[in-house]
Amino acid sequence: MKNFLKKRRKKIILVGGARPNFMKIAPVYFELLKYKNFKPIIVHTGQHYDSQMSAFFFRDLGLPKPDVYLGVGSASHAVQTACIMERFEPVLINEKPELLLVVGDVNSTVACALTAVKMGIKVGHIEAGLRSFDRSMPEEINRLLTDQISDFLFTTCLDANKNLLREGIAPEKIFFVGNTMIDSLLRHLALARKSEIKAQLGLIGVKFGILTLHRPSNVDDLNTLQRIMGAISRISSSIPIIFPVHPRTQKQLGQLNFLYYNEKHKKGIRIIEPLGYLDFLSLLERASIVLTDSGGIQEETTILGIPCLTLRDNTERPITIREGTNRLVGTDPKRIEEEALRIIKKGLKRKRLKRPKYWDGRAGERIVKVLLKNL
Ligand code: UD1
Repeated sequence: MKNFLKKRRKKIILVGGARPNFMKIAPVYFELLKYKNFKPIIVHTGQHYDSQMSAFFFRDLGLPKPDVYLGVGSASHAVQTACIMERFEPVLINEKPELLLVVGDVNSTVACALTAVKMGIKVGHIEAGLRSFDRSMPEEINRLLTDQISDFLFTTCLDANKNLLREGIAPEKIFFVGNTMIDSLLRHLALARKSEIKAQLGLIGVKFGILTLHRPSNVDDLNTLQRIMGAISRISSSIPIIFPVHPRTQKQLGQLNFLYYNEKHKKGIRIIEPLGYLDFLSLLERASIVLTDSGGIQEETTILGIPCLTLRDNTERPITIREGTNRLVGTDPKRIEEEALRIIKKGLKRKRLKRPKYWDGRAGERIVKVLLKNL
């Protein structure tokens, strides 16, 4: 009987490669574990490899060590994508999974989806259908291509359904399930509140803001980055700004002028290492303002009710503006400064905040229900 059950277990490979992937796969992994007929296998491509960008997230999310680690590391887009495909193919040959689940929009997402689909393996894309309509972003290309070749398109909002239908995706492939990143957030909030990070940074009882920057369009060009950091410096003379620095941005910082943090006056920009998931959530929940070019943080601040200024000209997540706390401010330093100072003085002008539909902690459950019925 045991052997019989073993044989019937359907293998599902979940791929994570970069920092924002891990909180999206965790809820689905844990939900799959509840069903004896599924065997989830975690493959980590190694696109992100520093502990702060990877291992700390597995630890904080309670995920086991990946079953397979491809160790691809950093390289140009072409080399990284090709290397992931080359190393992932033997995993698929060996495991013969029933389904591959990919998340988000990073190079690992498209590389693994393409490898699987060419071998006749079904692909599910979690967070399908988001569009910035800006094809100069590598992520937009990754989203478009992954969605075209996926068999299950799991969406976080109805905007995404519309985008997919417009691109000719068959309606029966599209499943509006909600947001697995928010599943992780809701599940870990209580634990995050126990983090010591605020005390370690001397922020207990202190009003502060958070900055994150890593988009190539914002950080690769020194002039653009200097203009942004100039605006943040001026903001930071009103409120200290905590800046956990992404490795891509770290490489540039030494060449910039900005207002460094002054411990005594609690003003300026406080540069710190990238934070683990729980420490970051703990800070995010207490921030007076968040300035970011990340996608996921626009969603997390929406759920936490924290004002978020997105330093980009577009977003693939317009629901966070319509229903949440997000505002697009672009990269014009004057606009960034004005909008931030207004929020710091008066708080966010509250429209009625809504929690977007199905951002309720149960998206992972809905995904697995779809798989139980259709796989
Ligand atoms: C990648 C994703 C982006 C996502 C971001 C989250 C793509 C095209 N980009 O961008 O969508 O929002 O992750 O962080 O997939 N590096 C390290 N240690 C690491 C990882 C990277 O030092 O663990 C350095 C390397 O020098 C590398 C640079 O950071 O060249 C950028 O890393 P890369 O994975 O190429 O892109 P991200 O900017 O992180």
